[in-house]
Amino acid sequence: MAIRPILRMGNPTLRTPAAPYPTDEIAGEGFRSLIEDMRDSLAAAGGIGLAAPQIGVLSQVVIIEIPAGPSRYGALSALGFTVMVNPRVTPLTEATQGYWEGCLSVPGLRGFVERPERVQVDYISDQGKALSTTFEGFPATVVQHELDHLQGQLYIDLISDRSKLSFEAEFEQFHQPA
Ligand code: NI
Repeated sequence: MAIRPILRMGNPTLRTPAAPYPTDEIAGEGFRSLIEDMRDSLAAAGGIGLAAPQIGVLSQVVIIEIPAGPSRYGALSALGFTVMVNPRVTPLTEATQGYWEGCLSVPGLRGFVERPERVQVDYISDQGKALSTTFEGFPATVVQHELDHLQGQLYIDLISDRSKLSFEAEFEQFHQPA
């Protein structure tokens, strides 16, 4: 168990595509330790999702845990602790939705990003099982945000209206829905 430092924008590792995780190693100690470190680091930072490259591990592994109830992202649909290995995303609709996203690797900022509102994700679970899950609403945005990290992409790359990139205090003052 260890809280690892979260890399910040400007670190080239965040811009490097991650390699597939060897699925025959999911039962191993290295994988268990990686997930524990990611979970500890996510909890310490108070986030809802983390990709392995954010702690400097260039493997296709993400974790997501969206708590129920109000948070800094507003009222949310909860998503229990989920581990995704080697995930692939497929949009299920051309309809998009926009959320003000934030990222532990881009601290202090929020930006409005539009993404497909319903997606299918095929991935390997932390039990080594191949799963296919459909996400919609806010969880769909969170999943796509985390998967982008595995391609070396950050949410700020996807902001089409630059007037909707804001510091957190200004976001709360001027942009947050009442
Ligand atoms: Ni992020």
